[in-house]
Amino acid sequence: MSMNSFGHLFRVTTWGESHGPALGATVDGCPPGVPLTAEMIQVWLDKRKPGQNKYTTQRREADEVRILSGVFEGKTTGTPIQLMIENTDQRSKDYGDIIEKFRPGHADITYWTKYGIRDYRGGGRSSARETAARVAAGGVAREAIKMLAPSLKIIGYMVQMGEHKTDTRDMDQIEQNPFWVPDADAASTWADYLDGLRKTGSSVGAMIEVIAQGAPAGLGAPVYAKLDTDLASAMMSINAVKGVEIGAGMQAAMLTGEANADEISMGPDGPVYSSNHAGGILGGISTGQDIVVRFAVKPTSSILTTRKTITKSGEDTEIITKGRHDPCVGIRAVPVGEAMMACVILDHLLLHRGQIGSNQGKIG
Ligand SMILES: Cc1cc2nc3c(=O)[nH]c(=O)nc-3n(C[C@H](O)[C@H](O)[C@H](O)COP(=O)(O)O)c2cc1C
Repeated sequence: MSMNSFGHLFRVTTWGESHGPALGATVDGCPPGVPLTAEMIQVWLDKRKPGQNKYTTQRREADEVRILSGVFEGKTTGTPIQLMIENTDQRSKDYGDIIEKFRPGHADITYWTKYGIRDYRGGGRSSARETAARVAAGGVAREAIKMLAPSLKIIGYMVQMGEHKTDTRDMDQIEQNPFWVPDADAASTWADYLDGLRKTGSSVGAMIEVIAQGAPAGLGAPVYAKLDTDLASAMMSINAVKGVEIGAGMQAAMLTGEANADEISMGPDGPVYSSNHAGGILGGISTGQDIVVRFAVKPTSSILTTRKTITKSGEDTEIITKGRHDPCVGIRAVPVGEAMMACVILDHLLLHRGQIGSNQGKIG
């Protein structure tokens, strides 16, 4: 059984635990000749890395990636690319309490029930440290995308923290605040709100939007490798994700056919759509519009408030989760969502090239 891999042609396998010596990703199926250095991948890891501000976990990891194989003289060779990131700031004693007790809302109880053994240190394999490996693989995907579809851009940002939501999309603001929110006013409200929560040892959920701009029409292979199927699966596999939607998503349930229809007219360079309720995907195939995915993450389950739970031997007890935790995992989930989008899009660019090549349908 291999349950640690995803992707069809661009295939990523991640390995490692939170408090082991290292973790990483094996990336298979990357085209040869893609310029690739550790520095190119590091840019994305630096975005995800913990301890960068008071709003994320204070675990201090350099998250330095090493490329162990698959690259020669600065270019991919078409052979498996092994990426390794060492864990350098483990504090296993913080997790003493969870040896015997299960954190409500975390994976302790299910890992134990399924396997009868678990690396409890920092949550082991269920820790979001694993997402560093995804971000590294996403860095490789981005470089390959640059070669195959140079105008394609992937951008992630937060659109909701708890009850605080924004509809503003001022993209220049994304890099200007610690929440990657495209709204300066929201950034300041969220800062006060999260600071208050953080000081009480509580946590809150969030919504992240990831878009791919400039993706060609035609990506996605019906019926079991629809682009939206693969995107939803990729996003849902991220820790703490409890909901995924494409385009209008859950709100589509409230619309009439007239309101939902993205009307089509002919523009100078091909079809033009009046709106994008479809999130850039029809019948599992990209339309050429922005591909829009949103995912909801739940509040961090490791909180400083006493919660009821049970022990391994079945006694009722209580738990307070110490250790260093993210008060809102949505912040660091932004680069993770971007990485998953990059891996899925590259996978589908390769699938499309393999099956269709340049033999595509024409309009006009
Ligand atoms: C970027 C990121 C950081 C996270 N940090 C923490 C954390 O500090 N503490 C914690 O308890 N959970 C954290 N989580 C969530 C857990 O990893 C997750 O809730 C746990 O593995 C159980 O899986 P599930 O929530 O998907 O069911 C984080 C998730 C993400 C995406």
